[in-house]
Amino acid sequence: MELQNRVALITGSGRGIGRAIAQLFAKEGAAVFLTARTEKELAAVSLEISGSGGRAAYTSADLSEEADCVRVVAAAREKFGRIDIVVNNAGHYGPVVPVEDYPLAEFDRVIAVHLRAAFLLSKLVLPEMYVRKSGVILNISSLSAKAAYAWGSAYAAAKAGMLGLTRVTAAEAARKGVRVNAICPGPVTETRMSKELGADLAKKLGVSAEDQLAGFLNGILQGRGQTAEEIARAALFLCSDQSSAMTGQSINVDGGVAFS
Ligand SMILES: NC(=O)c1ccc[n+]([C@@H]2O[C@H](COP(=O)([O-])OP(=O)(O)OC[C@H]3O[C@@H](n4cnc5c(N)ncnc54)[C@H](OP(=O)(O)O)[C@@H]3O)[C@@H](O)[C@H]2O)c1
Repeated sequence: MELQNRVALITGSGRGIGRAIAQLFAKEGAAVFLTARTEKELAAVSLEISGSGGRAAYTSADLSEEADCVRVVAAAREKFGRIDIVVNNAGHYGPVVPVEDYPLAEFDRVIAVHLRAAFLLSKLVLPEMYVRKSGVILNISSLSAKAAYAWGSAYAAAKAGMLGLTRVTAAEAARKGVRVNAICPGPVTETRMSKELGADLAKKLGVSAEDQLAGFLNGILQGRGQTAEEIARAALFLCSDQSSAMTGQSINVDGGVAFS
């Protein structure tokens, strides 16, 4: 098992990619601490994991709030005694509108949940990791950080910001035993965020959701989207000792779209 005796805090783990990461990490021996806003979803994932012999606990939180980030870290430590791995995955896409129509409050909320929460949670766990001279932070960015898609300015800015945060934190942490990396997934079409975005885009473009999706997937070398499980496997690699020489990197898991 790749993550035996590790404790992983995984945000946005009530469904989608975060759920898949939590399930895989638990299968690989980690105790997983789950968080998101919807308690019912967290309870269900926690039950799935404990039902298959894994260790899981959760607390609900809105990670766009600083106090909730502080509370989540304290709750994870109280439950499992330490935090070895943080996966910053929580987030929503935000309004599908051009810059000139983007409401400032919505812009701030998107930045807060993706970028600010990743910064805050890193800030809260790094001192503990430095004492042990070990730890891993993984930021879930996006293809949107590396390509130009209309009508998602806050999302793209937050995701590109996460890559800057990844590199600078990696530079500070590398000689203190802590690795920091990012994943840039392409379209993971099974998740709620992806489905809602597809529906919004189709409406705006005046095409069916099926045609919108087919057009988008056609631009990927593999001609298909990625599964949450495929993103989770890349997350496992980056959070395990298998990637011990990798830090400050952003890995594209997009079926062949971005090439840097
Ligand atoms: N799906 C894709 O195509 C794709 C591609 C690239 C990157 N990503 C990234 O992958 C991550 C997961 O997305 P997903 O596709 O799995 O979407 P999803 O199924 O909608 O899951 C998003 C998770 O984040 C949580 N979340 C959202 N806002 C939150 C907040 N303010 N505080 C705490 N938790 C919050 C959600 O729970 P609650 O709503 O209950 O809070 C949920 O658990 C996101 O960072 C997304 O940007 C996704």
